[in-house]
Amino acid sequence: MPKRSSETDMSPEAAAEEHARLAQEIAEHDVRYHQQDAPTISDADYDALRRRLDHLESLFPTLKSTSSPSAKVGAAPSEKFAKVRHVVPMLSLGNVFADEEVEDFVGRIRRFLGLGADASVSLTAEPKIDGLSCSLRYEKGVLVTAATRGDGFEGEDVTANVRTIGSIPNVLKGDVPEICEVRGEVYMSHTDFAALNVNQEATGGKLFANPRNAAAGSLRQLDPTITAARPLQFFAYAWGEMSAVPAKTQSGVVAAFAAMGLPTNPLMRLCYSVKDMLDVYRAIEARRATLGYDIDGVVYKVDDLALQARLGFVSRSPRWAVAHKFPAEKATTILEGIEIQVGRTGALTPVARLKPVTVGGVVVSNATLHNEDEIARKDVRIGDTVIVQRAGDVIPQILGAVLEKRPADTKPYVFPDVCPVCGSAALREIDAKGETDAVRRCTGGLICAAQAVERLKHFASRNAFDIEGLGDKQIEFFHEKGLIRAPADIFTLARRDAESLTKIRNFEGFGETSVRNLFAAIEARRHIAINRFIYALGIRHVGETNAKRLARHFGNFAALREVGIKAADPESEARAELTGIEGIGAVVAEALADFFAEAHNEEALNALLAEVTTEPMEEVAASSPVAGKTVVFTGALERMTRDEAKAMAERLGAKVSGSVSKKTDLLVAGADAGSKLAKARELGVEVISEDEWLARVNG
Ligand code: IVH
Repeated sequence: MPKRSSETDMSPEAAAEEHARLAQEIAEHDVRYHQQDAPTISDADYDALRRRLDHLESLFPTLKSTSSPSAKVGAAPSEKFAKVRHVVPMLSLGNVFADEEVEDFVGRIRRFLGLGADASVSLTAEPKIDGLSCSLRYEKGVLVTAATRGDGFEGEDVTANVRTIGSIPNVLKGDVPEICEVRGEVYMSHTDFAALNVNQEATGGKLFANPRNAAAGSLRQLDPTITAARPLQFFAYAWGEMSAVPAKTQSGVVAAFAAMGLPTNPLMRLCYSVKDMLDVYRAIEARRATLGYDIDGVVYKVDDLALQARLGFVSRSPRWAVAHKFPAEKATTILEGIEIQVGRTGALTPVARLKPVTVGGVVVSNATLHNEDEIARKDVRIGDTVIVQRAGDVIPQILGAVLEKRPADTKPYVFPDVCPVCGSAALREIDAKGETDAVRRCTGGLICAAQAVERLKHFASRNAFDIEGLGDKQIEFFHEKGLIRAPADIFTLARRDAESLTKIRNFEGFGETSVRNLFAAIEARRHIAINRFIYALGIRHVGETNAKRLARHFGNFAALREVGIKAADPESEARAELTGIEGIGAVVAEALADFFAEAHNEEALNALLAEVTTEPMEEVAASSPVAGKTVVFTGALERMTRDEAKAMAERLGAKVSGSVSKKTDLLVAGADAGSKLAKARELGVEVISEDEWLARVNG
C-alpha cells in the first residue's frame, strides 16, 4: 500500500475524519454501481479508494469496524439477470484519432490482402453511437432473446426490456433468415434524456450523468415497466449468428436490416478512398451537435464481406473495422496529490489525484501521469492547476500545468526511488542498447506484497484461470489474511478450510453459500487449457497472444518448461528454439529464460502443478486438417499475402514457423521458393503449392 506522507503524519483525529469521508464516498459509489448502473468512476479508481481506506486502517487499526466498507467482501449483489452466451462473440473496435492513422489502417488492410496500387477497396463510414450494444436474436422472424454485450462472450438477458422499445420490431418483415442475430446500439436522444432528468428531479429520483448512463440504467432494469417508461432507441449496424447472410456487403446487410423493419443510421456512406473516409468523418463531425443523440466518432468497415472474412481478427477487434474517435474533451482542475501504485511487474505508476471535475460528461478524479520522465517533462507539481483530457473510455490524461496559476510555494515533484509498498530499491533498468527504461520498478520481487497481490489477481482473472468469485477484492482480502500467498494456495484453500485452519465462513462478508460457490469455482479450474495456464503465470511480455504461440508450439507445459530452463544460456539451442517461434523475439525469449531460472518460480510452479493439470489449447479448430501441424510458408504467394497466410494457418490451429526443421510437417511453397524448399526436400517434409494449401484448408 502506498505510504503517503500525508497519511503517516496524520493525527488520529484527522485519520478518523479522512476514514469517514472515504467510507462515505465508497458507499456512494457502491450504490451508483450496483443499484443505479451509473458509476461515476472507473473500477481502477474505485479500487484505489478502497486501497486508501485499507491503508488508513492499517496505520490506525482502531478505525476498523464491521460497518467499514473494508469488511465487506464481494459486495456485488447476486446475478440480477439471466446470462446469455453469445454464439458469435461481441467484439470491440480499435481506436484511431489522427488522419494518418486512418491512412495506416487502410494501408494495413491493403498489405494484408496484398492489393496492388490500383486495386480499390471500399469501406463504409457511419457514426459511432455512444450508447450500449445489444444483440437481438430473431428466430423465424420473431424476437426470442435480447442480450447486452457483457464481457463480449456472455451478456445479460434483457429480452423483456427490449420488447418495450418501440422501434425494435417483435416480428421482422419480408425475407428473413431463419436465425438472424441483429446487433446494434441502444441509445437515448438528447431531448428524451433531458426530459427524463427533469422528471427524475421532480419525483425525487436520481439524475443521470449522460444519455449513455441513462440508456444503460434504463435497459438494465429488473422491472420492464420502468424500461417501458424510458424512451430508448436503436440502430442496427452488425450481426452475430446468421443462418444465411442476406447480402455480400456490409452496406447490403444493413440495407436488408432496414428492409426487415429495423432502424439503421441514415448517415452511413460508402467510401472508395482515404480521402472519402476523412470527408465523411468531417461531415459527420460537423453535424454532431445537431444530430440529437451522442456520437463519439465514426466507424469504418470494409464493405466486402469476403474481404472481412479474409482479414479476420486480432485479439478482440476486427482487422476490417476501426473507430475514428472525435478529439478528446478537456477541462482544468487542481492536482491535489500524486500517488504511486505498484503493479504486477513491479512498475511504479504515478496516479494524479485531482479535485473532481466533469470532462465530457464524466466526473474525473484521477488521471494517469505515465511515468517519472513524463512528470519531469511536464513539470506538474502538487497544487498546480492542470489540464485534464479524456477521450472515450481511455484513462484521463494530464496534458500539463497552467503556469500562470501556479501557487508560489510549489516544488518540483521528486519521484520515489524506493517501492512505497515494500521499501525495496526501485530502479530503472538499462537495456542492451544502453537506454534507460522509462519505468522505475520495485526490485522486491516476491517479497513485495503489491506485486504478489497483482500477480494473484492476474492469475485468477477472466482470461487466465477465470475463477468466479475470486475477484480483485477477494484476492486482496485472502492475501491480507495470509490465506493465499502463491497461486497453489488457491487450490489448497478448501482443504485447509476443511481442516479448520481458517474457516472462511467465519469471516464477515462470506456466507455459507458464497464459500461453497467459491470452492466449487476453484475446483472447476483444476483442469485448464495450456494457453491460459501460460498466460496466468504472468511472465513478462507473455500476454494472451504470446501464450497461445507458446502453447501451440510446445503442445504441453513440460516441454515449454524444459526449453525455458535450458534457455538460461543466451547461446543455447533452447534459446534459439524460442526465438525461432513465429512472433517470439529476443525480449520474450529472455523473459521466459529469466522466469524459469528463478528458484521461487520453480517452487511455485511445482506446488501449482501438484494441484492442477493442463489440457490442450482451447479455440483450436479440432476438425481442421492442419490443426497441431507445424507449417512453413516460403516463396512468393499469389493468392494471399504472407500475413494473411499465417493468420489463416493459426486460426486453423497450425503453428507457423519461419524455418524448416525436422519438426516441420508441411511446407507451402510459392513461386521461386529457394533454400527452404531444398531443405524440406532433404528432410522429407511434405511440400505443397499454394493452391493445394487452399484446397486442403477450404475442403
Ligand atoms: S461495429 C465487430 N458500429 O462501439 C465490431 N460498433 O468500440 C462490431 N458502436 O461495442 C461493432 N456505434 O457498442 C460498430 N456504428 C457502429 C457503432 C459501434 C457504436 C459501439 C459498439 C461496440 C463499440 C466498439
